[in-house]
Amino acid sequence: MKYFLDSAKIDEIREAYDTFGIDGITTNPNHIMNSGKPFYTVIKELADFVREKGVEGWDKFPISVEINPHLDDADEMVAMGTKIAAMSPNFVIKIPCTQAGITAARRLEQKGVRTNLTLVFSASQALIAAKNNSLFVSPFIGWKENSGEDCVQYIQDIVTIYENYGFLGKTQIICAAVRNGKQFVDCAVAGADIVTAGLQVYKDSFYHPFTDYGLEKFQAAWDNTITEE
Ligand code: E4P
Repeated sequence: MKYFLDSAKIDEIREAYDTFGIDGITTNPNHIMNSGKPFYTVIKELADFVREKGVEGWDKFPISVEINPHLDDADEMVAMGTKIAAMSPNFVIKIPCTQAGITAARRLEQKGVRTNLTLVFSASQALIAAKNNSLFVSPFIGWKENSGEDCVQYIQDIVTIYENYGFLGKTQIICAAVRNGKQFVDCAVAGADIVTAGLQVYKDSFYHPFTDYGLEKFQAAWDNTITEE
C-alpha cells in the first residue's frame, strides 16, 4: 500500500519524502490555503520539487491538484484541468464526484490527462469513477468515521467491486482523510492501493510507547553488562 502525503506545505513534503519515502502527494483547496501562498505559486513549487528529486511523471510521483471548487460546468472544469496538467507531468487533476465532475474527468482521461475523482462517500460513486477510467478515486474515510460511520465495510465493498470487474489497480483506491493508525490498518487489510494523510498522522502511526519502554530497558541492560577488561 502506498503512502501519499496530504499537504501543500513544501517543508512537510520534503520531510516526509526524505525521512519515510512517501509515494505521492494529494492537495486540496484547504491545504493550498494553509500553505499561506497563492494557488499557482504553490503548484509551481510542487512542480519544481519533483524536478529537483528526479521523479518527473505521474507514474513516478503523482501530485493531485484540485480544480476551483466553484466550477460546475464540465467545459470550464476541463479547461482548468488542462491548464494545470500542462504545468507538470506529475499533476493529476482532482475533480469532485458530481455529474459535471464525472463528465469532465471522463473527457480529461480521453485526452490523456489523468484524474482523481474526489469527495467520494459511497461505493456507487467509486464505481462510476472506475467506469470512466479515472486514475484515482478518493473515498473519504476520516470524515465518515468522524460522523459515526464505520468504514471497514465501505472500503471492502469498493475493493470487492473493483475486483469483480477488473478495475482493481487500473483505478487506484486512495483512502483519503485518514486520521489514525487503525484506519491505515483497515485500509491495508481491505486491499486499498493507497492511503493519504497529514504528516502528524503518519508520525503518530509509527509511535508505540512499548518501543520507548523497550529501548529504556535495553539501554539499562547495555549499561549494566560487564565489560571486557
Ligand atoms: C484527499 O485527497 C483530501 O485532500 C483529504 O484527505 C481531505 O481531508 P482532510 O483535509 O480533512 O484531511
